[in-house]
Amino acid sequence: MSTASAATTLPAESIDSYRRNGYLHVAGVLDAAEVAEAHDAAIALSSTMASRRYKGEPFTQLVNCWQHDERLRALTLDPRIAGLAETLAGVPLRLWHDQTLIKQPQRSTATEFHLDAPYWPHAGGRHWLTAWVALVDVPVERGCMTFLPGSHVDGDFVSVDLENATALFDALPHLRWWPRVTVPLRAGDLTFHHGLTAHAATPNLTDEPRVAHAVIYMDADTRYSGTRHVVADPLGLEPESPFAHELFPRVPGDSRLTP
Ligand code: SIN
Ligand code: NI
Repeated sequence: MSTASAATTLPAESIDSYRRNGYLHVAGVLDAAEVAEAHDAAIALSSTMASRRYKGEPFTQLVNCWQHDERLRALTLDPRIAGLAETLAGVPLRLWHDQTLIKQPQRSTATEFHLDAPYWPHAGGRHWLTAWVALVDVPVERGCMTFLPGSHVDGDFVSVDLENATALFDALPHLRWWPRVTVPLRAGDLTFHHGLTAHAATPNLTDEPRVAHAVIYMDADTRYSGTRHVVADPLGLEPESPFAHELFPRVPGDSRLTP
């Protein structure tokens, strides 16, 4: 685990660990005031913005919050987080989208094991990763993440129902007995996970909402594959074109990267 003092840079062993395991816990990226501001913004937005619907209730899922709230915009575009992401990915990045994910107390269901990247209409990308930022303390019983370390390395690419507990293991039986790492987070910590790392989250059995904000990045050279996705569908992108659109800014947005 990296420490708070390392929140804007990463030691070589953390980068190695991410590349080997496909996830990394970075502690203390946001301070208490930043957490409180983003948490309050997320809760407020959840009463005005529609959630994507599921069969059960793995989470209240608000997509592209940065387009609706200035405080969440600041978090999604936070150059500290994007800088860490770019260091880990080793390629220039664009924002793909963000998601505020709230597991409602007592009634949320598990987020079952799945891979993220196969859901996305992406072609030619060399990397995808998600910064999953805890906006409350997230012990195991509030819905923390579990990863299958190293499961990204073979590049297995299957899209499964994240409400079906056996779907990933039916599709990729070698993962069924894979060791698992469960990562409780303190508010202000984050984990990064690679788009092909198998992961899941427990239900929230506590009385407090589990509030997390996921910032999802893609290789800046990723092309649009043309398959359906809630973020890309309304935009009229040409298949095989780059994601050169204001919804997908280059991050961390510094002058090393051309617009
Ligand atoms: C969750 O927050 O419950 C799951 C997040 C993810 O699948 O990336
Ligand atoms: Ni996921």
